[in-house]
Amino acid sequence: MNQHEIAIIGGDGIGPEVTHEALRVTDAAADIFGFGVRKTEYPFGSQHFLDTGEMFPDAAFEEVKQQGAIFLGAIGDPRMEPGKVEYGIIAKCRFDLDLYINLRPIKLLHTDLCPLKNKGPEDVDMVIVRENTEGAYTGMHGFAHKGQPHEVSTQTMVYTRMGVERAVRYAFETARSRNRRKTVTLIDKANAVRAHDLWTRVFAEVASEYPDISTEHAYIDAACMWMVKNPEWFDVAVTPNLFGDIITDLGAMVQGGMGIAASGNIHPGRVSLFEPIHGSAPKYAGQGVASPVAAILAAGMMLGYLGELDAEKAIEAAVSNLLRSGRLKGVGTAMHATGEVGDMVVAELKALTVKS
Ligand code: IPM
Ligand code: MG
Repeated sequence: MNQHEIAIIGGDGIGPEVTHEALRVTDAAADIFGFGVRKTEYPFGSQHFLDTGEMFPDAAFEEVKQQGAIFLGAIGDPRMEPGKVEYGIIAKCRFDLDLYINLRPIKLLHTDLCPLKNKGPEDVDMVIVRENTEGAYTGMHGFAHKGQPHEVSTQTMVYTRMGVERAVRYAFETARSRNRRKTVTLIDKANAVRAHDLWTRVFAEVASEYPDISTEHAYIDAACMWMVKNPEWFDVAVTPNLFGDIITDLGAMVQGGMGIAASGNIHPGRVSLFEPIHGSAPKYAGQGVASPVAAILAAGMMLGYLGELDAEKAIEAAVSNLLRSGRLKGVGTAMHATGEVGDMVVAELKALTVKS
């Protein structure tokens, strides 16, 4: 029996409650598909920092590195200085574990969830490959003459040939293995951010190794427009870190909102981190009203990454059946209790596997 080791960080706000449901679904999938999951839970997040002054201690980080995957609920707390917990936990994992791909599938599971007119599941099915360790997120920033009228603040976007190339290559491999429209779109802003010329050149070089895959290009501003007007044009898109951050929030809305969007922070072959895209929603914390659907789908992605592809497919099918049959009324706050959604997905997962 395959045995998977998972580090769990519930995090802030609604993070722990949605994580709880995602793990119940993970356990149910383990029973059904016959694999084992050993979970190690960590208390890190803003509350833990405020209580203890501890963010993500080295000893725990070393332990986490030995696991197969990390599951993160959500982080962010208005009582914290902006960026503190983001850089202390999520960026630390992304950078120190070199999780160079942020994989964000944008798939509409049911027409009713889509805010766009006349678009259905056949129109919204794409994957955004967000470069995840470079660009504006490298943390190379500074201030001079702070507080004075001539204050200067800078933040450098960093791109390396290696970093760009591995993201672009991952996108081409994804287009090949998805075998859908077999198209990769490069989204950049090379007309204004001239450093993106590196992306233009590397993209063309890598593309020449994939004659079976077509290529397209869109500037980020236009890509935002097309995402809303013609989402069916996208299959796989690859983009620098900051643009990927922005366009995947837009994508999340197109697929039904923050309550459904899942993501993986991946270094192929190494410990990787899976999380819902949504934030910690502090005002809903502890009320049991947040939808755990995004967290459940992120847990599905995690199982797929760990090699449990049937479990990943079944979890997505269970959520999609519940939505299409109307039993799951949506993925917004207060539509169902958090635990009720977990119950429904577990029951549907069991029913599905009895049928098949
Ligand atoms: C995301 C989030 C993070 C990001 C924040 C929490 C730092 O918005 O994962 O998209 O900007 O990458
Ligand atoms: Mg974001």
